[in-house]
Amino acid sequence: MKRVDDFRLRLGSQELVPIMVGGMGVDISTADLALATARLGGVGHISDAMLPTVSDRRYNTKYVKNKLQQYKFNVANTDKSVVQFDLGLIAEATATHVGRTMEAKRGSGLVFINCMEKLTMNSPRDTLRVRLRTAMDHGIDGITLAAGLHLGSFALIEDHPRFHDVKLGIIVSSLRALQLFLKKSARTGRLPDYVVIEGPLAGGHLGFGMDWAQYDLATIVAEIRDWMREQQLDIPLIPAGGIFTGTDAVAFLEAGAAAVQVATRFTVTRECGLPDDVKQHYFKASESEIEVNQISPTGYPMRMLKSSPAIGSGIRPNCEAYGYLLDSHGNCQYIDAYNREVAAHPDAKKIKVRDKTCLCTHMRNFDCWTCGHYTYRLKDTSRRDDNGDYRILSAEHVFRDYQFSTDNKVALPD
Ligand SMILES: Cc1cc2nc3c(=O)[nH]c(=O)nc-3n(C[C@H](O)[C@H](O)[C@H](O)COP(=O)(O)O)c2cc1C
Repeated sequence: MKRVDDFRLRLGSQELVPIMVGGMGVDISTADLALATARLGGVGHISDAMLPTVSDRRYNTKYVKNKLQQYKFNVANTDKSVVQFDLGLIAEATATHVGRTMEAKRGSGLVFINCMEKLTMNSPRDTLRVRLRTAMDHGIDGITLAAGLHLGSFALIEDHPRFHDVKLGIIVSSLRALQLFLKKSARTGRLPDYVVIEGPLAGGHLGFGMDWAQYDLATIVAEIRDWMREQQLDIPLIPAGGIFTGTDAVAFLEAGAAAVQVATRFTVTRECGLPDDVKQHYFKASESEIEVNQISPTGYPMRMLKSSPAIGSGIRPNCEAYGYLLDSHGNCQYIDAYNREVAAHPDAKKIKVRDKTCLCTHMRNFDCWTCGHYTYRLKDTSRRDDNGDYRILSAEHVFRDYQFSTDNKVALPD
């Protein structure tokens, strides 16, 4: 019986354990998690979501406070178009996070950055260009362009000296999305180095509609694999979403996948950025406590625990401090939903907004508990202490379990 360790992921001249730990914003996939993964020979991800905020928390900068100060005059204004990011400061925050992470990297694995292209930041092209290029300047091994994929992303970096050296990957959930991207980026003469195929059981935003349950990862992977063969394209395919054991991973590797991308099992590790009490919510969740809803202002369905404080919260939009989801006209679906509720309840001290959430604030505060479908199985991956809490795992424990387990077994901590 094969184990994940019997396979290797080849990316250019690199040979890696075929386990990629997926990006989890905002700083849920921390530098520590990515570095542990790289040390063990796999591919870890940091996330580029809201890096000024992450930098404030980790490196004692004051980006959020200063931005709020600058735009304070606009807080009560419903028009957020004046709230712009300073590109120099985005570059600075990205440089700090990526630079420090790459300096600390040890071992034979790689550290990539997950780039959330749906963070349109009131100026989608310019802000994305700066984020991508700065990560490349500061030595990132690879960039995974995540959902919300801009078909023109490669063109934003094609004149960068590292364009052909940095590993570039995309996340798609259908053959059609892959075909569109390849068509659009063909002009740059550069194919992606890998394609993550994310199925409907993943955490975070989903590349499906609310009919997500009708899709199946293995079927999508087979469809893409067969089309690639037909086109004589040889790009490593990396399935993601609901791959919970080493045995699940081996099934994909035997079917032709080059590696797997996993995330949910790592949400309950010490290295994961979620606070420990939130990790306990993940451990204790039952299947009925997990839902796919439409409260993300991005318009994409998102999977989360029903007990997430973000659900139903009616806080004032925080765009002057954050504003990562503002489109190029300064709009965000949460602002509309919030204003509608305020108008409907003019005398209320506190309002509730049920259909959308202020994702920036709640992701920043770890109050939006996004998770994969199999989160309810996390309780089977650890031991319970006398106080009823589950023991937090190490990233190394989970990684090695994927790497070496057989027979659908999950190793418990000592
Ligand atoms: C807590 C959490 C946050 C996530 N955030 C992101 C993200 O910011 N960007 C992204 O591309 N994918 C995100 N994902 C998806 C993962 O990177 C990964 O592809 C997927 O969850 C793998 O499936 P699994 O969780 O069942 O192992 C997130 C997943 C989780 C569990």
